Amino acid sequence: MSVRKIKDGVYAVGVNHWDRKLFDEIIPLPNGTSYNSYLIIGSQYTALIDTVDPALQDGLINNLKEFKDLKVDYIISQHAEQDHSGSIPKILEMYPDAKVVTNEKCKELLIEHLGIPDEKFIVIKDYDKLSLGNKTLTFIFTPWVHWPETMSTYLQEDKILFTCDFFGSHYATSELYAKNSEIVLEGAKRYYAEIMMPFRNFIKSNINKIEKFDFEIIAPSHGPMWNDPKFIINAYLDWISPVVKNEVVVLYTSMHGSTKVIVDELYNRLVENGIKVTPFNLVSADLGEIAISLVDAATIIFAFPTVLTGPHPLGASITYFVNAIKPKTKFASFITSYGWGGMTIKWVKEHIGNLKVEMLGELEFKGLPKKEDIEKVNEIVMRIVEAHKSIGIL
Ligand code: FEO
Repeated sequence: MSVRKIKDGVYAVGVNHWDRKLFDEIIPLPNGTSYNSYLIIGSQYTALIDTVDPALQDGLINNLKEFKDLKVDYIISQHAEQDHSGSIPKILEMYPDAKVVTNEKCKELLIEHLGIPDEKFIVIKDYDKLSLGNKTLTFIFTPWVHWPETMSTYLQEDKILFTCDFFGSHYATSELYAKNSEIVLEGAKRYYAEIMMPFRNFIKSNINKIEKFDFEIIAPSHGPMWNDPKFIINAYLDWISPVVKNEVVVLYTSMHGSTKVIVDELYNRLVENGIKVTPFNLVSADLGEIAISLVDAATIIFAFPTVLTGPHPLGASITYFVNAIKPKTKFASFITSYGWGGMTIKWVKEHIGNLKVEMLGELEFKGLPKKEDIEKVNEIVMRIVEAHKSIGIL
């Protein structure tokens, strides 16, 4: 990715990771991702906002080399996670007089994760300003999006808000701006669902904080920039709102077809009753798609067989993941089949402590589903229908 000018003295110097397939070694990236870094050249000083993943640091270095006689005075570190901070040591080698400007918590993490020496830091407080001459930066602490030290940076003269992961999207593109594209929004929702959703209670207060500033561009550190900030802010407000949608997510796998018979029955009856159903076969499902669906769904159904007295390992894994990302889902149900015995439902119930869900029935059956099992499924469906009606979404 070559250098691109955003405003006079403000440049995008980060890199696209077009062919990255997994984020955090777990979330598929159908459209790659990017690590954005921004260079701000003021009349007196120059600042670099965030760096890039060390795997692609040569791209950042090459971009910086395009500026003749460049001297970086400040490296603003908004987040200590390595996809943004990992190239700081290399940039400090290139510009030995540069200082890393960040908050106390981020400094502590950068020392732990990257071994940056203490004397390299300038520690700032919430709302502190840093003058680059004709350009002024204000630091706004926006914690828990998604680490405790995360912060944003406001460039007053150009009305740009740099937000790092906050409002970022997994989307590699040569375009500077998202242009309210639905596919970029999907990449943003994928990112939100995996790492922001567990901290959604912090997001509203962070949005309230940043909205006190007059910005025209949001420049995140993943994906293109938003030049209609309301578009992505409103999307976040929708995702974090307590309102759920008339949707059921079914997380299933089936070894010999018994669980699948029940899932098909569930699917047909729920659809007949006007409920959107998204079934995910755990053998092949995209974990990012599951997370995205759980941003809005009112109900989740866990349906997998018993293996060796406990949940099928794919079921155990998805239960752990769902509990970790803490969706706002309001209702749940459990279904398992078994060959000779098991404790699957008990295990699942013990591992979803983070979910604040009302239980709408469970079904545990041996071998092939019988008539009474099908009747039980229909009871569960009717409870889901009534539950969705009770909160006014059906
Ligand atoms: Fe994009 Fe939390 O790192």
